[in-house]
Amino acid sequence: MSEVLKVSIDLSGKLDLINHRLTEVLKTDNDRLNSMAYYAVSSGGKRLRPLIVLLVYELNTTKPIENALDLAVAYEIMHSASLIHDDIIDEAEERRGNQCLYRKYGTNDAIVAGDYLFSLAYKMGASYGMEVSNVVAKAAQKLAEGQIQESTNLGNFQISEETYFNIITNKTAYFFGAGAKTAAMIAGSSPMDQENMFNFAFNVGMAFQIADDILDIVGKEEAIGKTPFTDIKHSTLTLPMIYALKQGNEREAQLLKDVLKGRKTDSESIQKAKQFLIDSGSVDYSLEKAKGFIDSAIESEKTAKISPNLQTLFEIAYSVISRIRI
Ligand code: IPE
Ligand code: IPE
Ligand code: MG
Ligand code: MG
Repeated sequence: MSEVLKVSIDLSGKLDLINHRLTEVLKTDNDRLNSMAYYAVSSGGKRLRPLIVLLVYELNTTKPIENALDLAVAYEIMHSASLIHDDIIDEAEERRGNQCLYRKYGTNDAIVAGDYLFSLAYKMGASYGMEVSNVVAKAAQKLAEGQIQESTNLGNFQISEETYFNIITNKTAYFFGAGAKTAAMIAGSSPMDQENMFNFAFNVGMAFQIADDILDIVGKEEAIGKTPFTDIKHSTLTLPMIYALKQGNEREAQLLKDVLKGRKTDSESIQKAKQFLIDSGSVDYSLEKAKGFIDSAIESEKTAKISPNLQTLFEIAYSVISRIRI
């Protein structure tokens, strides 16, 4: 079981709503597809994106939260679909504490299961009308752009921080922003409030991906529900690595490059590369960057009236960085 979000307000009611609706909408006539869809979606997951959707909706209207449930669930389904495909691309082993879907069911069927979930998510988004549906679809398009940008830069030791931030903008942060924006749209918020909510969640998404990239290096398998060092083994240069390679520490930098290129695959070399990443200050540096995005997220809501829901959204924002224990 992977981690759960730690905030002071009880989110179990919202989580139950999300999980119950997920099990209702996933059903298909084909048994194998059914099993794959449930396996991918039901097996853990923090439900961060649908929770943000519900909290933003509730923050902006007094109408019943159930009105936003299908939108919230659409984002979780789309997110799960993207993880199925992402694990194939990253040659990952574990997801949400279980074997990755493609390892259990084979790559071919996993690709189709991902497609099935993407189309289900679009259908649910479309039930909110054209404007909302456009934003939901754009989130998926941005994600695709980001994933291809990432592939293009695999093993690129010259990759700049700017390119890295651009990749995570597309593959992760826009998706967070879209969820919050569409929640504000269906709540009937002003365009300015929609924009502020987008910026809040977008910045949380930036910090979230940096935190995920740090956790790939320092996280414990039981806590993250994924096998650590997947990025290093797959030649994905994340912020800590980009920073470490610039520290002019020739011998250690060469070792990190060898591990990233798959020239050294033994666990001792990987552990040494991890130590270099920590000793070079790259983990601390990346954490500071993530904190900067959380500050920007909070800043986006500076004109909003403080309420319990806004407080919870802020706590969620801070929990993104407090999950990191070095
Ligand atoms: C994983 O997202 C993919 C990233 C954007 C880093 P989560 O860490 O939210 O995954 P689940 O939904 O909790 O499994
Ligand atoms: C996020 O990147 C992938 C998506 C946005 C689909 P990662 O590749 O780092 O995500 P994890 O670590 O596999 O969850
Ligand atoms: Mg991955
Ligand atoms: Mg990752």
